[in-house]
Amino acid sequence: MGSGIAQAAAAAGLQVVLNDTKPEFVEKGFQTIRKNLARDVEKGRKSREEMDAIISCITQSTDLADAGDVDFVIEAITENMQLKSGVFRKLDEICPPHAILASNTSSLPITELAAVTNRPAKVIGMHFMNPVPVMKLIEVIRGLATADSTYAIVDDLSRKMGKTPVEVNDFPGFVSNRVLMPMINEAIYCVFEGVATPEAVDEVMKLGMNHPMGPLTLADFIGLDTCLYIMQVLHEGLGDSKYRPCPLLRKYVKAGWLGRKSGRGFYIYE
Ligand code: CAA
Repeated sequence: MGSGIAQAAAAAGLQVVLNDTKPEFVEKGFQTIRKNLARDVEKGRKSREEMDAIISCITQSTDLADAGDVDFVIEAITENMQLKSGVFRKLDEICPPHAILASNTSSLPITELAAVTNRPAKVIGMHFMNPVPVMKLIEVIRGLATADSTYAIVDDLSRKMGKTPVEVNDFPGFVSNRVLMPMINEAIYCVFEGVATPEAVDEVMKLGMNHPMGPLTLADFIGLDTCLYIMQVLHEGLGDSKYRPCPLLRKYVKAGWLGRKSGRGFYIYE
């Protein structure tokens, strides 16, 4: 998602430092941006000059110290509290005091991330949707200490990036995943209990509810490990049995059937 976020920021004319742990990861993200922009040029949505201008706004980096003179950070690393806290602690040391630190987390508590820094008023959630270049929503999550001035800057930045910000408070799963994941989990229960095949479940939701993707295709697209993780966050954080992850979801994840990225989930990908 990091490359999609970088693309949207660069397209808004902002100078972007695209950082990852290894040069090959940064390069992969950069090539995805190139590919997306080339498609825009091919389809007549952008000129070649506009594409070049966007690309020239992006600098590649593998050193977090490159954040030493930035105004704004959007972190989009693995959904793991320990890893994210570590990065936020480092960023808090490296970044100038006025810099805002945003997280693209889909379910981890912003308040807890803010607490590891010395600038909790400047920490906020910016939850983008996949695929970032296409999806308009940014769920903007206010932590307990997030300042109104921080929210106002994020609201403005989101609009500059061509997205629509929606304000929510910091509770497990926020709004998007609190509503989406139980639907996906229930679709998995339908398969688990033999109510219908994955194809039938998806067809019902696509044709009957006008969803662009059926819930099981979407689960494969998001990653079944991510779906399981978010269900666990909801279950643990809200303490209600209605959020218990379906045993079939657990089984698939244990088997390494993680969806599109592993080549197999509810469907098989060549
Ligand atoms: N990157 C860039 N562009 C992409 C893309 C990607 N990964 N995937 C699709 N697109 C573009 C295509 O290039 C195409 O653009 P053109 O106008 O150039 O043709 C356009 O999107 C439409 O794509 P397709 O015609 O191939 O297919 P589609 O009409 O089915 O649309 C989709 C694809 C936009 C992904 C659509 O199926 C959709 O909206 N699916 C649901 C997505 C969704 O629910 N996302 C939220 C997931 S939850 C989440 O992200 C949060 C979380 O915390 C888990």
